[in-house]
Amino acid sequence: MQDILIVYDSKTGNTEKVAKALAEAAGARALLCRCSEAPAADAFSVVFAGYWVDRGMPNASMKKYLPTLKNKKVVLFQTLGAEPKSEHAMASVANAGKLLDASNNVLGVLSFRGAIDPQLIAMMRKMPAGSPHAPSPEAEARWAAAASHPDAHDLQEAHDYMANFLDMFERFYKNM
Ligand SMILES: Cc1cc2nc3c(=O)[nH]c(=O)nc-3n(C[C@H](O)[C@H](O)[C@H](O)COP(=O)(O)O)c2cc1C
Repeated sequence: MQDILIVYDSKTGNTEKVAKALAEAAGARALLCRCSEAPAADAFSVVFAGYWVDRGMPNASMKKYLPTLKNKKVVLFQTLGAEPKSEHAMASVANAGKLLDASNNVLGVLSFRGAIDPQLIAMMRKMPAGSPHAPSPEAEARWAAAASHPDAHDLQEAHDYMANFLDMFERFYKNM
């Protein structure tokens, strides 16, 4: 029975890789689809909703999708250029949470680093000194650190998260 809806959006493929790792771990229980093709969530016990961070918020389509969820068990997952445990990452996931209706129950959040679109990096390298995204040794180091993500370790983490989640679901969450 498909009772887990994994809905995501992805511009350059990072969030899609994480979504696929989650879906693979959930096997036949999961329906994986892009936000634009998502069926009504009514028939699903759990919705995993994944987005890429755009200026500290879920990307535009997920910003519209998240408020449509009602009375659902939700797991949020995000990819972003910044360090996944940074204050910026936490603020971004909090911003996603604020878009959810209070009737939902957030059971978990997952945050992964994701390579930044080279076109965006090229643009930022042209920004004048003083602008928040102007190139600097620190910014270059951050962009370089993101470039290899999500990597095999991240995808294994996503896979393991789902395996553990399914166990927890049976034991604790199912009848919540
Ligand atoms: C227009 C734009 C805005 C972005 N804003 C942020 C941001 O505010 N914080 C951040 O850490 N990363 C930001 N990023 C980086 C993306 O969130 C990151 O590369 C993400 O993994 C892309 O996911 P995708 O490959 O699924 O599209 C931005 C990227 C783009 C293109």
